[in-house]
Amino acid sequence: MPVPSALYVFPRSKRGEMVACLREVVAFRAAAQEASHVNEVPPGSDFLDEGTVRPSDSWISDTSYWVPRHLVESAWLEHAPFAFWLVDAIRPAAIAELGTHNGFSYFVFCETIVRLGLPTRTFALDSWQGDDQAGFYGADVYENVSTINKTDYSAFSTLLRGYFDDSLDSIPDGSIDLLHIDGRHGYDDVRHDFEAWRPKLSDRGVVIFHDIAEHQEGFGVWQFWEELAVQFPSFAFDHGHGLGVLAVGSRVPPRLRAFFDAGVENADQIKEFYLGRGRAVAKEYRVSVQAAEVPALQAEVSALRSELQNAGLRVEEKEREIALHESERLGLVDQVNSLHHSTSWRLTRPLRLASDLVHRRRD
Ligand SMILES: C[S@@+](CC[C@H](N)C(=O)[O-])C[C@H]1O[C@@H](n2cnc3c(N)ncnc32)[C@H](O)[C@@H]1O
Repeated sequence: MPVPSALYVFPRSKRGEMVACLREVVAFRAAAQEASHVNEVPPGSDFLDEGTVRPSDSWISDTSYWVPRHLVESAWLEHAPFAFWLVDAIRPAAIAELGTHNGFSYFVFCETIVRLGLPTRTFALDSWQGDDQAGFYGADVYENVSTINKTDYSAFSTLLRGYFDDSLDSIPDGSIDLLHIDGRHGYDDVRHDFEAWRPKLSDRGVVIFHDIAEHQEGFGVWQFWEELAVQFPSFAFDHGHGLGVLAVGSRVPPRLRAFFDAGVENADQIKEFYLGRGRAVAKEYRVSVQAAEVPALQAEVSALRSELQNAGLRVEEKEREIALHESERLGLVDQVNSLHHSTSWRLTRPLRLASDLVHRRRD
């Protein structure tokens, strides 16, 4: 018995969606598997002692291959490999960051300290309200950062919530070896942040500036960077919106000096290497976002599967009903046929004709 085709339309289309979902789940699993190998470092590269500089190691170390533990949305993702290298290279006594938001760059610094066992203190400064360039956001952002900080880094890390300048008195002059400036990105903003915080730097002080390659309306870090880069030893990365590295102190850490020296000859190679490593980190972030979607997709797949099963059951039920009706219909047809062929039916035919005639006349 043919079943009305409309009954099949729903389950067939859902079947296509379900297959697509299953394919995605398989692809995510494969990507997650691949991701679990990324923290492996190439063999044979060991750490350098402070002051020992081998030219071939002047801009790459094991840390350049690390993948951050806390992957969150950030325009800074592609700078993690260089940041790992930098903290390893200069081994700062204290780090301050102006502009932390979700904590991506800040937790890269913190992670390096833990993994290398450094005695570094760190300070994250932010209003944790956002601004017109980064966008304004809710209290949950600070709460997430604070939870990670308490759980993983509370031994050495302090979050200073408020405007940058309000914390100037909390940090002693000459105490910071690494300052990251990533607040508002207008020329006046970045210039103000640099000038206000410069006294906090030690004589080994290094400053990194994010967004030096960003030229969109309202961004002026590039302009301030052009002024600074001719006054101090420096190196500029173009990828990831640009990152400027500036040695402001009179005593440039030896491995950083070697890096700057290598940068004179090998700038393209260095940029290309850290661009590649940065892209690998950004890819890890995308994979982690997709992997986080897997449980929801799996739930959707099993909901679709049971919907499909129910639809199948309903189709079977309808088929049974239709078969029953058909057999009832055929039974009635048989009864009618046998009635038509019966002797009594034939004998009573004149009576039926007469009755029809009477009815027609009355009408
Ligand atoms: C671009 S985000 C920082 C991004 C972060 N470094 C990362 O790794 O993704 C800029 C942050 O600076 C903060 N900010 C900007 N100006 C500030 C100021 N004067 N005082 C405190 N926070 C400020 C904003 O709240 C925002 O969270």
